[in-house]
Amino acid sequence: MSRVVLAGAGEDLILRVKQATDGDVHVLPPGRLPGDPARLFEQLVDGELPDVLLVGPHAPAEEVLSLASRLDVQSPGITVVLVTDPSPEMWQAAMRAGIRDLLPPDADVADISAAVERAGRAAAGRRRVLRPSSETDRYAGRVITVASPKGGVGKTTVSTNLAIGLTAAAPQSTVLVDLDVQFGDVASALGLVPEYTLPDAVRGPAAEDTMVLKTFLTQHPSGLFAVCGAESPAAGDTVSGEDVTRLLASLAREFRYVVVDTAPGLSEQTLAALDRASDVVMLTSMDVPGVRGLRKELDVLRELAMIPAGRHVVMNFADPKGGLTVRDVETTIGTGVDVVLPRSKAVPASTNQGVPILASGGRRDPMVRELRRLVSRFSATPLVSSGRYRAKHRASS
Ligand SMILES: Nc1ncnc2c1ncn2[C@@H]1O[C@H](COP(=O)(O)OP(=O)(O)OP(=O)(O)O)[C@@H](O)[C@H]1O
Ligand SMILES: [Mg+2]
Repeated sequence: MSRVVLAGAGEDLILRVKQATDGDVHVLPPGRLPGDPARLFEQLVDGELPDVLLVGPHAPAEEVLSLASRLDVQSPGITVVLVTDPSPEMWQAAMRAGIRDLLPPDADVADISAAVERAGRAAAGRRRVLRPSSETDRYAGRVITVASPKGGVGKTTVSTNLAIGLTAAAPQSTVLVDLDVQFGDVASALGLVPEYTLPDAVRGPAAEDTMVLKTFLTQHPSGLFAVCGAESPAAGDTVSGEDVTRLLASLAREFRYVVVDTAPGLSEQTLAALDRASDVVMLTSMDVPGVRGLRKELDVLRELAMIPAGRHVVMNFADPKGGLTVRDVETTIGTGVDVVLPRSKAVPASTNQGVPILASGGRRDPMVRELRRLVSRFSATPLVSSGRYRAKHRASS
């Protein structure tokens, strides 16, 4: 039996829909239809998503079309049916917004029942295709945690550009999570004004259902999704390690890549993100304190057996005149350096404008070239199972 939600309907239509569904319909109170799916779902008592959203003629057409377009992208497992005069123009606009069916306002009970049944079957079919193995396949997506012992070394720069690069390689594939819970600036680096932030994404209905969680994400014009940082340090501090574990597991079921920006050091949230990661990007600036800090952090993580299978060491602010060579760094940290990012004047400007350099930079800028190399380490290589790696790693340490 499909779960049906009815909005924008008058008494008479409510009665017919109740008959057509044997009373199994959730009727939303009259009023504005929220343009944002998350607001719509907040009105559902149990937070469970419908299979079919039936919208009556009381809801203004622009509002329905805008909501339907967003549902089509964010919650494609919900089928929208609109009750309105089915003019050719309306059909065309509805089709473009991803609305599945139109019913005339005087549709009788049998028509409504048949339309709801068709819509329910379509929703079930789409869900099967969209989430073929979500319940059994726990960590399908790749979780890439960007971390560093010290602040200001380019974590946010690298994570935003990596996420933009992966989105360009595979549209709708990537979500970026701002786990710098106190002073996160992913939203600013991407020029986003989020409606919901990290604390909203880890509690309430979003924590219970991955499809609902998707409606709490902020979308960047590139097609990248983001969980932006909390509005205040106090709000961010309410997010626990367990919250992070649950959030990343849910996102990895829905996205091929989950990129995680973190605060400097090894906070509770960063440790949780490393524990769930398939890959870590360890970042340092190319100077003695930065490199020493990285060695200490790598030592701690090795002891905890928390270095994920994919380990990528990135040097930022490389400066040939700084007195340190990549070889010196490799000797100190006892492992290879994978990517070296040069100091670039274009980067601070891109941070200030809220446009990542991979979204705007010229191809010939050396920073763009090296960031693309970093992106291709993920977009062109298969995932190694972190579970297997950890078992091996523990056995040998
Ligand atoms: N390769 C680079 N060349 C020039 N400037 C850079 C480079 N990488 C980062 N920056 C600049 O350095 C500053 C710090 O970078 P970013 O915010 O990415 O660091 P962070 O590690 O996230 O810092 P925090 O630990 O405070 O979160 C930013 O203004 C950014 O524009
Ligand atoms: Mg940062």
